[in-house]
Amino acid sequence: MTRVCRTEQIPCEGTFCFNHNDRPHFLLRNHSGVFCYVNACPHNRVRLDWTENNLLDAEKLFIQCASHGALFEMDTGRCVFGPCQGQYLQSVPCTIHEGWIEI
Ligand code: FES
Repeated sequence: MTRVCRTEQIPCEGTFCFNHNDRPHFLLRNHSGVFCYVNACPHNRVRLDWTENNLLDAEKLFIQCASHGALFEMDTGRCVFGPCQGQYLQSVPCTIHEGWIEI
């Protein structure tokens, strides 16, 4: 397991970007829990964010691709709007242990 950050480092409905095995990843925290995804769009593998740690839409209801406005469900990573509709972000298992988020 790899410790990524403390849970309190991510605001509720917030994201936290980091690199793991030379690939960009991000953590997302919402009322359902904490989720981890590879930061790469399923349709062309580019990062979803323009500015680091800013991966959500204005209403903080979906993960949003900054290039195309595509929307992904926070809890599943499924694209519900945009060029990769029906595809999924690559999910990475994560757990919380003694206040640390680990993958
Ligand atoms: S890079 Fe795929 S929706 Fe933007």
